[in-house]
Amino acid sequence: MTKFSILTTCLFGALSTAAFAEGDAARGEKKFEDCAACHSLEKGVNNVGPSLSGVFGRKAGEIEDFRYSPAMKRSGIAWSPQTFEAFIAEPQKIVPANRMPYAGMTEAADRADLLAYLQKTGK
Ligand code: HEC
Repeated sequence: MTKFSILTTCLFGALSTAAFAEGDAARGEKKFEDCAACHSLEKGVNNVGPSLSGVFGRKAGEIEDFRYSPAMKRSGIAWSPQTFEAFIAEPQKIVPANRMPYAGMTEAADRADLLAYLQKTGK
């Protein structure tokens, strides 16, 4: 093998891994900017929206010192990557009358990236 073909093999390998990975955490960090205006990832820091620290494994409407809508409290959702993804796609459809002023993240690839980022940061 020549030096050149080794290089192209490596490069191709790296590119295809990135393209076929489930979600891209670096892109997801950018996507989180849509949420960061209202949500912190720090524990105990509530903003316009509740902190999203530890969101996976938590029940909807569970943070003590945040005033949720009755709709969110009653929704009975347990946040997992699946329920979270569905909610972010169409918040008003999944939890009708909730008070989150966000229309939804329409692209599945964007949602996958966002999830990859949140899971990477251990949320
Ligand atoms: C303009 C402010 C705003 C934006 C932008 C926003 N949210 Fe929210 N979010 C809220 C509010 C307010 C609530 C509480 C809603 C309620 O009680 O009905 C909420 C609730 C949530 C909840 C439920 C949390 C819990 O403790 O049960 C999740 C999950 C969530 N948001 C995720 C996101 C994600 C992910 C994004 C970005 C794609 C986002 N939000 C964008 C304001 C916002």
